Amino acid sequence: MNAPASPLPIVILISGRGSNLQSIIDAVASDMLPVEIRAVISNRPVAEGLQRATQAGIPATVIDHSLYSDRAKFDQALREGIERWQPGLIVLAGFMRILTAGFVHHYQGRMLNIHPSLLPDFPGLRTHQRALESGCKQHGASIHFVTAAVDGGPVVLQARVPVYQQDTVTTLATRVLEQEHRLYPLAIRWFAEQRLRLDSTGHAVLDDKVLTEPVILTPESGTLC
Ligand code: GAR
Repeated sequence: MNAPASPLPIVILISGRGSNLQSIIDAVASDMLPVEIRAVISNRPVAEGLQRATQAGIPATVIDHSLYSDRAKFDQALREGIERWQPGLIVLAGFMRILTAGFVHHYQGRMLNIHPSLLPDFPGLRTHQRALESGCKQHGASIHFVTAAVDGGPVVLQARVPVYQQDTVTTLATRVLEQEHRLYPLAIRWFAEQRLRLDSTGHAVLDDKVLTEPVILTPESGTLC
């Protein structure tokens, strides 16, 4: 399917460093990603990614979760913050807050997340540490649609990396992050080109085919395909 004439408006949610945000900014700047990043929203005022957004001329705002008495109130404020920009897709790029079921339901089929493991392995936190402790020989990263099950929505795209005996959390995380920066622009591009969607039964569909397993991005597949 051809890309629509106007770029897809998106909002990116972050909590920290923002290197995945940067990979998306860079892909847009190189005309490889037909989206308009309308805003970046962080739940942490100190997130480095806010500066990356500002440097790229993207409106960057903070909705500080610590100022809200409960999750539902924060999610309501976040939703209002997002709606101002009328996005067609919400991109969670290192956004480290669990979202309420109501929030997730509202954006069902319009919200993607990146997770640093080969889901369903190692949902949650400390994924690299847990991968090393498990003795697994392969690790990686996943892009999935967000559903109410934390890190449990349909996985669309993955990249695998080897785990070496001498690996530390830092070396393994670096190897995985390099792949994350290839994965996210590609999955967002598929969505923007209307090749990727979530169907009414909760399955991910790519190019009119239900994905029974994620697409695996290999080292040979280039940056965007
Ligand atoms: C990334 O490794 C991302 O996969 C992970 O946080 C990091 C953010 O890095 N996300 C999660 O763990 C979500 N459960 P970044 O701020 O440099 O993009």
